[in-house]
Amino acid sequence: MTSNTIEFILNNKIHRISNPDPNETILNFVRLKLKKTGTKEGCAEGGCGACTIVLGELINNNIQYKAINACIAFLPTINGKQLILVEDLVSEGGKLHPVQNAMVKFHGSQCGFCTPGFVMSMFAMYKNNKSFNDEIINEALSGNLCRCTGYRPIIDAAKSLNKIIDNDKFIKYKKKIVSLLKKIKVKNIEIKNENKKYFAPKTIIELKKIIKNHPEAKFLSGGTDLSLEVTKARKEIEKIISLNSIKELDFIYNKKNEIEVGAGTSLLKFEKYIKKYYLDFDSILKRYGSVQIRNVGTIAGNIATASPIGDTLPLLLALDAKIILDGKKKEIIPINKFFISYRKTRLKKGQFIFSVKIPIYKKNIFKAYKISKRFEDDISSVCGSFNIEIDKNRIKKIKIAYGGMSEIPKRAKNTEKSLINSNFTEKIFYKAIKNLEKDYKPIDDMRASKSYRMEVAKNLLMKCFLEVKNKKILRLN
Ligand SMILES: Cc1cc2nc3c(=O)[nH]c(=O)nc-3n(C[C@H](O)[C@H](O)[C@H](O)COP(=O)(O)OP(=O)(O)OC[C@H]3O[C@@H](n4cnc5c(N)ncnc54)[C@H](O)[C@@H]3O)c2cc1C
Ligand code: FES
Ligand code: FES
Repeated sequence: MTSNTIEFILNNKIHRISNPDPNETILNFVRLKLKKTGTKEGCAEGGCGACTIVLGELINNNIQYKAINACIAFLPTINGKQLILVEDLVSEGGKLHPVQNAMVKFHGSQCGFCTPGFVMSMFAMYKNNKSFNDEIINEALSGNLCRCTGYRPIIDAAKSLNKIIDNDKFIKYKKKIVSLLKKIKVKNIEIKNENKKYFAPKTIIELKKIIKNHPEAKFLSGGTDLSLEVTKARKEIEKIISLNSIKELDFIYNKKNEIEVGAGTSLLKFEKYIKKYYLDFDSILKRYGSVQIRNVGTIAGNIATASPIGDTLPLLLALDAKIILDGKKKEIIPINKFFISYRKTRLKKGQFIFSVKIPIYKKNIFKAYKISKRFEDDISSVCGSFNIEIDKNRIKKIKIAYGGMSEIPKRAKNTEKSLINSNFTEKIFYKAIKNLEKDYKPIDDMRASKSYRMEVAKNLLMKCFLEVKNKKILRLN
């Protein structure tokens, strides 16, 4: 069944909007149409958290609460979900939610501009966890900035929730919301609003039919990159095909020593899975944007964006991942052949990323390091990744890749050549790092100068050597 009407739950009722503007953000809808102005606009690019809202999603008969940035999410993407705004936390009679109470009690707010966003991030954390340690709290709040109160009272407020038993109004209404969410099971959506069209098919078969008729349409996954064309570049996107309702794209398996990640899998879900195989992949993902970004952003979106500083890309290059394409033509492309030039890939019109296959190396050591100006919620200046097989102190195989060092993320082939079949010694590595100058010609930009980038790239390779040699993680925290 196809419909032009999106359905979502707000305040325990189903809301319907026919043919909404596909370029309108949830933030603008909430503030300008619903006239609920608790949710704030700070940066309008996903970086400050002032616009954080929570979406309730039905997963295995349970509601999962996802904090997202409303400023970079298009309105039709709330189809089939529960929309929770800061105003909705207060119970009938004005009783504050435990999270709001904690913020008051611990003086977590001054000017209050950032406060609704903090409250919503804390609310999602409160609903999705049973207890809250430093790691959970820091991660939950990593996408929210405050410029007056400072973080200590806010973190104290979050810690105090450990003593509060969750018996809030969302528990009271859970049964009702679950049944409403089941009622609005996502259908195929096809929206026409003036010159703009938006499609959200439910299956790959439907997707392929839409692609055939609209090969120029842009794919939307998490929208954490695409939406900025509207909110920052002030462009209009005329045709969007959302991949978010296609269950066949949301999967992770381990098959025959290979992990396969579906294009629609969120980075947060991927992060939890990859940890068992490649700890440093998980460490990099923990510093990727924020929870709000990783709740919706996907690995396929990161690959298709093809940014020279895309964080997963040097890691996938060092691991020799393969990109599985579908659509107009089915293809398997090794990732080191996928990036052509600045933000250009081998994806053709009408082709989409179906999945990514990542080999599992049982004997290898895998390391990855991200250097950025801010620890969290910041994009890399340089990101280096290393995949090494050592046998009897000889380097049998080595794959090295960097982001931020050239117009595409790429392997350091000359450096690799100088290390392969050599002894695993400091002297050899000191000699090899000079080859990075043959592999890369980095640029100067506002993130870093070219000389800084080269120096950092060399240091990261040495750091990798020292960590492997000393079997010790060298981190400055
Ligand atoms: C505040 C903020 C912080 C960020 N931090 C980081 C960071 O730390 N590290 C980092 O690497 N990036 C970061 N990004 C960039 C962004 O999150 C990533 O590029 C992200 O992975 C994009 O994924 P997405 O699913 O949101 O893609 P979308 O925005 O939906 O799409 C991005 C591009 O990929 C195309 N596309 C999407 N899915 C497919 C598919 N299946 N097949 C073919 N094409 C497809 C789209 O058409 C579009 O051109 C950040 C962005 C923001 C706003
Ligand atoms: S307004 Fe800053 S993250 Fe949305
Ligand atoms: S209280 Fe003012 S920015 Fe946080």
